[in-house]
Amino acid sequence: MEHMDLDYNLYSKAQATAGRQACQLIGEHFTDVTEARGDLSIADYGCSGGANSIPILNAVLSKVRCSGDITLCMVDLPDNDFTITTKTIQTAIEKGELVHRVGDGNLKVVTVGKSFYHQVLPTMSVDFGYSLVSVNCMEVIPCPIPGSLCHTDLPEGPDRKSWETIAENSWNTFLRHRQNELKIGGQMHVSGNAYLEKDEFTWCNIMRNAYTVFEAMFNEGKITREELDKLIVPTTFRSREEILKPFKENSDIHLKVESLSFNKPPCLYYEEYLRTKDSEKYATNVSNSFKNVFNNSFIKLLASNSGRILDEFWLRFHAFVAEQPEKIDMGLLQFHLILRK
Ligand SMILES: C[S@@+](CC[C@H](N)C(=O)[O-])C[C@H]1O[C@@H](n2cnc3c(N)ncnc32)[C@H](O)[C@@H]1O
Repeated sequence: MEHMDLDYNLYSKAQATAGRQACQLIGEHFTDVTEARGDLSIADYGCSGGANSIPILNAVLSKVRCSGDITLCMVDLPDNDFTITTKTIQTAIEKGELVHRVGDGNLKVVTVGKSFYHQVLPTMSVDFGYSLVSVNCMEVIPCPIPGSLCHTDLPEGPDRKSWETIAENSWNTFLRHRQNELKIGGQMHVSGNAYLEKDEFTWCNIMRNAYTVFEAMFNEGKITREELDKLIVPTTFRSREEILKPFKENSDIHLKVESLSFNKPPCLYYEEYLRTKDSEKYATNVSNSFKNVFNNSFIKLLASNSGRILDEFWLRFHAFVAEQPEKIDMGLLQFHLILRK
């Protein structure tokens, strides 16, 4: 097995497919309203290492007509490594990979280490905002999820309701702050994990199979019931109804919904596996991608026992994927919402 690599830029091809879909929608729907204003401000909410931001920025910049300065505001949690983000963008600029139609204006990159569940940029300062595969991350974990890693697997009842309430409040909070930050006429694109049905949500198979690996460790006495029950993925998956709820009448969200679409781009790793039949490489890609997104959460949830448990889990998960690649699908089921202030 290859070394587990925690390089998000390297192991985020699944997320990149959502970005590709977003580029197409930005190409179709983004209309620059900044010509008269001169300067342009673009915000990326949940930018991580920035690799998947480059195609999005290109989709936007190729349609921009302003001749003033352009500011890219890269927002993520304070523990994100912003040196990687800045370097990724600077390298793209130097290599000419970033479309740059700004006349004599400058292109500035600003990093913001704050949670997007707060206001993170000045009021009425953003012309174009986007958030890719990030607004599904929950800040508050209401209760454990026995028998699964995902709250959407909980039966109807008070526990499921508490997760849904937190998810609903987070969505409202995210939107309210973006509403404050956008300029009048500004546009916001949000792409996130969708929930269509019980067995149709992002990484449904990967999460359920990961749980069976943890469960096998429990059956062998390698983890306790308490530890098994603590393990969850702090993420949510939104249905059409949940996505649109804040835009109903009598709400304090006044952003206009321009479009909402759902898509499931194919998993690039699985396509490569089908071509090469290299199940070891597929297992490395899948394990590293999954580990990149959830390992820190597992560490926090398991606290002092995390090293012992997770070292073994990742080895076994890798072996599971290598043995049964067809059981794992990293394709994201995404929604793409376009809003205008
Ligand atoms: C799955 S990554 C997506 C990164 C990138 N947008 C992409 O498409 O590849 C989710 C990112 O959202 C960030 N994130 C999660 N919760 C956040 C919050 N409350 N505020 C800001 N960023 C957050 C994470 O740190 C992570 O970098």
